[in-house]
Amino acid sequence: RVLVLDFGSQYAQLIARRVREQNVYCEIVRHDLPASRIAELAPKGIILSGGPSSVYAEGAPRCDPALFELGVPVLGICYGMQLACEALGGRVQSAESREYGRAHCEVTDATDLFRDVHSHTEVWMSHGDQVQQIADDFTPLARTGTCPFAAVRHNRLPVYGLQFHPEVTHTVEGATILGNFLREVCKTSGAWRLGDFADQTIAALRAQIGSDRVICGLSGGVDSAVVAALLAKAIGPQLTCILVDNGLLRKDERAAVEREFTEHFQTDLHVVEGEQRFLQQLAGVVEPQEKRRRIGSEFIACFKEEAGKVQGAKYLAQGTLYPDVIESGAAQDGPAATIKLHHNVGGLPKELGFELIEPLRDLFKDEVRRLGLQLGLPEDIVWRHPFPGPGLAVRCLGEVTADKLHTLREADAIVVGEIKAAGLYRQTSQSFAVLLPVQSVGVMGDSRTYENACAVRSVNTDDFMTADWSHLPHDLLSRISTRIINEVPGVNRVVYDITSKPPGTIEWE
Ligand code: XMP
Repeated sequence: RVLVLDFGSQYAQLIARRVREQNVYCEIVRHDLPASRIAELAPKGIILSGGPSSVYAEGAPRCDPALFELGVPVLGICYGMQLACEALGGRVQSAESREYGRAHCEVTDATDLFRDVHSHTEVWMSHGDQVQQIADDFTPLARTGTCPFAAVRHNRLPVYGLQFHPEVTHTVEGATILGNFLREVCKTSGAWRLGDFADQTIAALRAQIGSDRVICGLSGGVDSAVVAALLAKAIGPQLTCILVDNGLLRKDERAAVEREFTEHFQTDLHVVEGEQRFLQQLAGVVEPQEKRRRIGSEFIACFKEEAGKVQGAKYLAQGTLYPDVIESGAAQDGPAATIKLHHNVGGLPKELGFELIEPLRDLFKDEVRRLGLQLGLPEDIVWRHPFPGPGLAVRCLGEVTADKLHTLREADAIVVGEIKAAGLYRQTSQSFAVLLPVQSVGVMGDSRTYENACAVRSVNTDDFMTADWSHLPHDLLSRISTRIINEVPGVNRVVYDITSKPPGTIEWE
């Protein structure tokens, strides 16, 4: 495996993903992991990520300098390079001008790291500081107009540095450079495969679970479906899946889950008919946080009741992903700081009395999708856009009622249906309708109307932390609008949300 030491870079996860794309297993660990612990983990290589600090600033995050002497290849990226160069005798300073964006890079030494890379190549820079002077032990490998040491190599130790970011796609030959580090320098075999992961996980689940019973909550989303698929293959008849129909699911969603699960897995599936309970909880509630709180506790109550009916269940399986593990700071040796506070509504508390099984803890979302395809899940599940735990209640502004949910469900089905029909569903990350508590005057036929407005939201994003609105074709937007107005009673106006995140959020609530 390869370790990525995280110095607070927004790109640490992207680096890890790029390494895995080269079929090398990779984990993110905290930046100050002692060299002795790193030696125990016996990585084939170490990557020092970028980060927002200046290496000369007080309290700047540092790595254990002894790691450079372990004999394990090290690649420092941006801040990581500055740290390595400084630790080994170089000088880092604020650059004359901060450099963000594309830069033209000239390769001056086309050996190992730059093998098969063009001598002039485009790279992505994002830094305020740079290495001004390298120790005699270093050889420069590449430069740009403003950065004399865009890439360096130590002469005695297997230590390399890149001032630019090979992990972003704007660095045109970034994958080749990273691949060279992994293969030529670290000598990794590139044999890690998701297929092996599936087989190993299924075998490990079998060994762990023995003859016990497992409960798995289904949400309709891809993560829980992949968990269920792995368990179905591992211990099929000992698995009970529970789907809580909270009345806040999308159009036909419950039926689709029921159909898909009985067709594909023949597992024991319990569907909790919870619509009335949830609607009662939501009656008269307008404040979004209060809605979330009530839905969250009702969900736990429903799930608990249903799980209590399953005789002899010992384990609860959940679709926790690697980003959740890192973000909650719970990763073994993971970065201490919590990066993101996720509004984890629709989740379950730890104290339900089951032992947890989290077979996707080491995977990223795109890997989960690939695994889902390998396990034979239908594309419809695998590529489904994420959906919040509190469901349509989030997107139904103001009080949530059965009538409003019906209206929203119909409008949403048109939005998603038209985007799919235009072949753009996979190119957008999340697309949906929002029902606004705003009424305005319209004219339909010869009569005046006074009805609700519906917002259409579609965003493109890699990580859901930042997002851009999707630049959907106007004729598609026009079809969506016409169909909603004609087919959904109660809506007389459709607007398209062109707010990015930040400053907006993806959901409206
Ligand atoms: P925002 O609106 O904060 O949403 O930009 C970011 C992503 O999180 C999803 N989301 C949730 N997911 N439980 C979840 O599992 C929730 O309570 C929840 N609220 C928002 C949202 O759909 C988007 O993908």
